[in-house]
Amino acid sequence: MSVHQKDIKRITTHVLRAMKEQGEKIAMLTAYDYSSARILDEAGIDVLLVGDSASNVMAGHETTLPITLDQMIYHAQSVVRGVKRALVVVDLPFGSYQGDSKKALASAIRIMKESGAHAVKLEGGEEIKDSIKRILSAGVPVMGHLGLTPQSIYKFGTYVVRAKQEEEADILRKDIKLLEKWGCFGVVLEKIPATLAAEVSKTVAIPTIGIGGGPDTDGQVLVTHDLLGITKEFNPRFLRRYASLFDVIKEATEHYIKDVKANDFPSKKESY
Ligand code: KIV
Repeated sequence: MSVHQKDIKRITTHVLRAMKEQGEKIAMLTAYDYSSARILDEAGIDVLLVGDSASNVMAGHETTLPITLDQMIYHAQSVVRGVKRALVVVDLPFGSYQGDSKKALASAIRIMKESGAHAVKLEGGEEIKDSIKRILSAGVPVMGHLGLTPQSIYKFGTYVVRAKQEEEADILRKDIKLLEKWGCFGVVLEKIPATLAAEVSKTVAIPTIGIGGGPDTDGQVLVTHDLLGITKEFNPRFLRRYASLFDVIKEATEHYIKDVKANDFPSKKESY
């Protein structure tokens, strides 16, 4: 019997592990606000990520670097209010955990205390070992993120596929084993070759969630605004658009403007 058929009331990190064991794929999406979180949760999404991609899609920045811890907490609070079932994971933003494990723990604790979210996500492996271990030691569930890690975009210089060369693939192989050993409950694998994602997904017991990692990770994640076609210009190969909401919203707005200008709205029935 699959996890879904058992009608799980609340998704926990343990449920995700059971889904991997049972071969049931995990569906994860981003959310940054109450209304969207409600819809996605009611649709049955397993994990909602309050991603630092809010910096791009909500605030219009070019990268994820500018978003602050306070802004992430605001988004997380709104999402948590809209959720009954999904596990809510929040990105620790750039500058809130690298190079200082005490600061990392303080950031994670602020997110957990002030938003009511269930877990945090950090980008990186061995190089952020102390931060991950310290957060885990406080009982805060941690999700890892390997491959293309957008907070390091100025180190990479480009958003191309990562770990195509054996040397970088080997580092990723080691990092994912370390994340598992330290106690992370899952890991996002972003934009790496599908063969590598499939291989490492088999070497760990924790669920892997892919974005641009092919079909053989234990789950998939997309940025909701991309999936819904609210963003238009971003068209990577891994993205499947399930709607064209940019056009739907634009057309509805044009219709409204037309009605207002023509004094066709509100009608008598819409007035008191
Ligand atoms: O911030 C984000 O949306 C993410 C996903 C792309 C995994 O980290």
